[in-house]
Amino acid sequence: MRNLLIAFFLFVPSLVMAAGGAHLDHAPIDLTDTDSLKRGAKSFASYCLSCHSAEYMRYNRIGSDLGMTDVEVAQDLVSTRDAKGEKTKIGELMKVAMTEDYAKQAFGTKIPGLSVIARAKGADYLYTYLRTFYLDDSRPTGMNNIAFADVGMPHVLWELQGLQKANYKTETDADGNEKQVFVNMEMVKPGKLSKEEYDAFVADLVNFMVYMGEPVQLERKSLGIKVLIFLFILAILAYLLKKEYWKDIH
Ligand code: HEC
Repeated sequence: MRNLLIAFFLFVPSLVMAAGGAHLDHAPIDLTDTDSLKRGAKSFASYCLSCHSAEYMRYNRIGSDLGMTDVEVAQDLVSTRDAKGEKTKIGELMKVAMTEDYAKQAFGTKIPGLSVIARAKGADYLYTYLRTFYLDDSRPTGMNNIAFADVGMPHVLWELQGLQKANYKTETDADGNEKQVFVNMEMVKPGKLSKEEYDAFVADLVNFMVYMGEPVQLERKSLGIKVLIFLFILAILAYLLKKEYWKDIH
């Protein structure tokens, strides 16, 4: 019953999003692409862990799932230090150095942990969200977002993506009400990456967050294939056995 409830509540956000809200771009997720997952893990550690935790994930779990050595994990992923200034160890959870109080003060809101965000919100949402920050003077950070209106998070990847402006047009619906409809994005100040490079960068990042939401997915898929092969061989044996048993009767 409890699992049923959990499944239900994990399912609800996708229903709500399907019912309305912004158009979401399709995220090119590929959990078999280990290089993409490694790049995503590295980006996640350098651009997101300063504010967000991944509270259910250990650094060295990523290492063993993605085939990284302990040295690689320590160099590429671990950058935080604890309150005493000691470097985090690779067996620890991916906690964040920022306290909740500080986050409230600085951003006016609690900062969510990102361990299971891909399951709660969906990969397409994350892929769209991280690519649709746009300039908006009325917001405290100077930025707004198409997928998350009036978001409190600053556009931490702006140096890579550049700064873009959202173009809207006014449309009148059947009831005669005017509303603003999003048309397209216009790059105002280009970033370090081209549009294709930035899309690929975000795709890696989202790929990693999907893996992190359910790390056993990797194992389960390869186990699934082994089980299918086993069943196939078993079916052949059973068939041969049947032939053997019935050969004198027919
Ligand atoms: C400077 C601090 C900061 C950094 C760095 C940061 N975020 Fe955030 N993030 C926030 C805050 C604050 C919120 C809460 C926004 C709100 O509720 O309005 C947030 C919210 C989110 C959400 C939740 C959106 C939702 O729909 O609930 C996601 C997903 C997210 N961030 C992803 C990321 C990723 C991925 C990175 C790394 C590329 C990152 N963030 C880096 C501050 C940050």
